[in-house]
Amino acid sequence: MRKIQYLDSHAHLMGEEYQEDLQQVVQRSAAAGVDHIMIITLNKDEALRAIEFVKSNPEKYVIATGIFPEDAEHITEQNWKDFVEIASRKEISVIGEIGLEYHWVKDEEMRKKQKELFIRQIELAKKLHKPIAVHSRDAIQDTYDIMKEHQCPGLLHCFSGTKEMAKEFNKLGYYIALGGALTFKNARHAVEVAQSVDESFLLTETDCPYMAPEPVRGTRNEPSNIPYITKKMAEVRNVSVEYMASVIMDNWERYLSCR
Ligand code: NI
Repeated sequence: MRKIQYLDSHAHLMGEEYQEDLQQVVQRSAAAGVDHIMIITLNKDEALRAIEFVKSNPEKYVIATGIFPEDAEHITEQNWKDFVEIASRKEISVIGEIGLEYHWVKDEEMRKKQKELFIRQIELAKKLHKPIAVHSRDAIQDTYDIMKEHQCPGLLHCFSGTKEMAKEFNKLGYYIALGGALTFKNARHAVEVAQSVDESFLLTETDCPYMAPEPVRGTRNEPSNIPYITKKMAEVRNVSVEYMASVIMDNWERYLSCR
């Protein structure tokens, strides 16, 4: 039987949480069959370290870089120039995570700045022919409006909206990535989304170090936990894990090649 290949489409592996034991984390991911990982980087330092890091295993990793919405507050034109330079490098495949964070940001002026930065990064992604990875928290309608007006191939990470909303995003071609929340007892939306959207739009992610799935909820998350999420997705869709994992890999390849 062919070995199952798993996908983690959102891992902050360059974060300080992994400074001590990144090699062990990587070994555990390989042992678990998590052979495809997208490393999300949120600043120049992380991006440059990721570019070095993946050289040892370029088949396994994809690198994304983006300016996180909350940084919209203090970004300068020089910051933007530096960002464009890194984002343009061939080692960077995806622009993300970018988007809107309204949970922690209530101020209207700040939200407006987030929207402007989001649009600016989408337009850059289009120019560079790279897909986007989008963060949207308590901001689903504004996210949708922007992604409808400024269309670019992309995914919504840690999707927490309703199944109806997920389908609206699918109509525009956007993928839906689900993570640990899918395994939580109170995760009604995530389960409904996993059950009801077309399988060709589903992806898995950890969002590590955050959002560890059941049964390891509350611990530092890492890519080797992906099988818990894929298994749950397969369960709620009533298909085998092998089948679910292979559909996800097909989706992933399609996502990366859409430009
Ligand atoms: Ni993230």
